[in-house]
Amino acid sequence: MSKNTDKGSSYNKKGRVAKPLSRRTVFKMGLATGIAVPMSALGQSPNRLRPQPGDQLVFEEGPNQDALVRPELLELEKRPLSALARDPATQVLRDGSRLNRIMIMRIDPELMSARYQANVAEGVIAYSAVCTHTGCDVTNWDEGQLRMACPCHESQFDIYDGAKVVGGPAPRPLAMLPLEVVDGIVLVAAGFRGRVGFTQQF
Ligand code: FES
Repeated sequence: MSKNTDKGSSYNKKGRVAKPLSRRTVFKMGLATGIAVPMSALGQSPNRLRPQPGDQLVFEEGPNQDALVRPELLELEKRPLSALARDPATQVLRDGSRLNRIMIMRIDPELMSARYQANVAEGVIAYSAVCTHTGCDVTNWDEGQLRMACPCHESQFDIYDGAKVVGGPAPRPLAMLPLEVVDGIVLVAAGFRGRVGFTQQF
């Protein structure tokens, strides 16, 4: 009887060496079984992953640039600031894709539409920075009407109604990132609600 000395291989029921699973097969298995297959398991760099539950947020700009986001560092209904998620365990900043950029702001939670209340953390909310029209960063702010605005073609988004489009050519709201506050620090509570990015128009 031959002895199995190949420690790096796996074997099927008949004792034959099983072929290594391709990335596509692993992905299909995840779909078939309902078991989530983390993208990191498929070789995606951690800094390219979308914000993950439990991630911290770090200011990209403003007087607290590079600091962790805390509710008291944001002023009520002032211009949104860009931020990125950071893995608290590895300190990896998820800056490998511009689709990961978010805009954070402080609102009056009482005024938020009921369907989005669960995404608010002590008055802090976050939307994807990427416009759903052709992908510019939504960096402008209409302080009078409390709307985020895109500098490219002037789409406007209602911060109190899930970034609903209230002006311009954007076809759908900005994706929203649910948040929570733990020990005074704002964390990502769940993945983006809504699709991040834009749809190519032909
Ligand atoms: S890219 Fe934002 S309105 Fe066109």
